[in-house]
Amino acid sequence: MTDYFKIRIVKLQKLLKKMDLDALIVYNGVNMKYLTGFDGGTGDGLVLVTLDNARLITDSRYEEDYKDRLPEGVDFKITRSYYEEAIATVTEFHIKKLAFEADLPYNIYDYIDDLLPADIEFDALPSAIEALREVKDESELVALREAAAVSTKAFNELIPLIQPGMTERQVANELDRLQKKYGAEKASFDTIVASGSRSALPHGEATDKVIENGELVTIDFGYYVDGYTSDVTRTIAVGPISDELKAIYHVVLQANENAIETVKPGISGSEIDRVARDYITEHGYGEAYNHSTGHGVGLDIHEGPALSAHSSDELQVGHLLTIEPGIYLAGKGGVRIEDDVIVTDSGYENLTTGISKDLIIIEG
Ligand code: GLY
Repeated sequence: MTDYFKIRIVKLQKLLKKMDLDALIVYNGVNMKYLTGFDGGTGDGLVLVTLDNARLITDSRYEEDYKDRLPEGVDFKITRSYYEEAIATVTEFHIKKLAFEADLPYNIYDYIDDLLPADIEFDALPSAIEALREVKDESELVALREAAAVSTKAFNELIPLIQPGMTERQVANELDRLQKKYGAEKASFDTIVASGSRSALPHGEATDKVIENGELVTIDFGYYVDGYTSDVTRTIAVGPISDELKAIYHVVLQANENAIETVKPGISGSEIDRVARDYITEHGYGEAYNHSTGHGVGLDIHEGPALSAHSSDELQVGHLLTIEPGIYLAGKGGVRIEDDVIVTDSGYENLTTGISKDLIIIEG
């Protein structure tokens, strides 16, 4: 069986070597999980990766759970004194150039820096593991496909249950129930259910507002399966909607499809954004599209690459991207349509085709 953890650790070790570093202290919980499977979370341990070793330092709450299931090559130290143990490890392995993740909280940086022997360099290494995480391996793609499949089943079962008179929160709670029925672990962010004029709020979390006839309802959700999350948006209509709202629906849909059709290895994130944005601008709504076209997704809801006007990221096989253009008309309503696509050798694989993008009109 392929040892994906080992491959990830070896990639990181090669990067450290290339950067003339001897070791990295990993504090970020998602990065610890990516490298070792340890899911305690940020603040509940450290992983110290040297050029030849990887050591998980955590406390006895996790001993029984992890002692027999850490990947080969990752050893285990149980202590409440994570930082002191990390420094003992640094000394044991004769580390001279130690790096830390750039988002390490300052108080922890300062604590470790004070404890370190004076001859050890201690410098920030920005986004090294985050960069590795952008390209998904086969085990991650399996989980991401499953997350999209669960989200698809749950959302398709939700649609016939939505009626005018329900609150946004009732819709969000119903979606949560269905996601869990089909095997989702938890939501990766508070579900957005934004109806009527609130649908013009790109991140309008579900409230007690009652959904009325004649409104658009934007539903944006992400759910974890096997540690990896989906991120999907659909906008539906409840009862008849105005011609203008119908028109913006079709502009957003075409922008979404044009951007997806552009996905292939070697294309820049800014080009994908330009394709979606130009279409929306040509139809007179450029000012009403106030966010970027997409982002990577994986263990976290927001990862690289960025699909934005200023992105210098280039698409690679194994990236998992959201494509999510929108138009938001203050006081009237908004539309966003979001799919999850994998970049493949020949272009892309859309994971969310099972959820229709035709304009669904629920009769009240
Ligand atoms: N779909 C929610 C987000 O990207 O923040």
